[in-house]
Amino acid sequence: MSNLYLIGFMGSGKSSVGRRLAERLGRPFVDTDEEIARREGMDIPSLFAKGGELYFRDLEQAVLLDLAGRSGWVIATGGGIVLRVRNTEIMRNSGTTIFLFAREEVLLRRLTGSEASRPLLGSAVDAAERIRQLLKERRGMYEWADLVVDTSDRTVDQVVDEIIRRLELPEAGGRNPEKTI
Ligand code: S3P
Repeated sequence: MSNLYLIGFMGSGKSSVGRRLAERLGRPFVDTDEEIARREGMDIPSLFAKGGELYFRDLEQAVLLDLAGRSGWVIATGGGIVLRVRNTEIMRNSGTTIFLFAREEVLLRRLTGSEASRPLLGSAVDAAERIRQLLKERRGMYEWADLVVDTSDRTVDQVVDEIIRRLELPEAGGRNPEKTI
């Protein structure tokens, strides 16, 4: 069974949607950032502080490659995973990719207060400006996904419902409402 990858900008809801999606499908879940932190015994800001972004990107790619060898997992990724073309190839070749989109002002609202845990924002004097700049740099990098879902103004369950419906995924324990009488 192929994996389900969630991609999208920081604050698009990849981890919360991924966790809930996995629960509903009865599939295992993993978050690339959590996996990197677990393996390295250090949180993401400390890894950036230790070796910079390039060092983090190498760890990210190695973890993705390992996870891609698994089967049937729901995998939430870090927002910058798409920066390396090789990563997009790895995801394309080992599963279905879902892009969680959110409008700029929604992302700005969701990311306010989370700067300390996000090294690419934490060091910026003006976090909002940094977010706008990163969004501009990454424009078009997520759209190759098999499915695009708008998460703006929607709950985790509404987003998960849409993914399950559009990909026609079977829910665990036959809880798929379309399939019950
Ligand atoms: C990053 C996003 C973060 C994390 C790291 C870099 C990025 O993950 O991987 O701080 O480059 O967009 P989230 O998207 O889960 O915040």
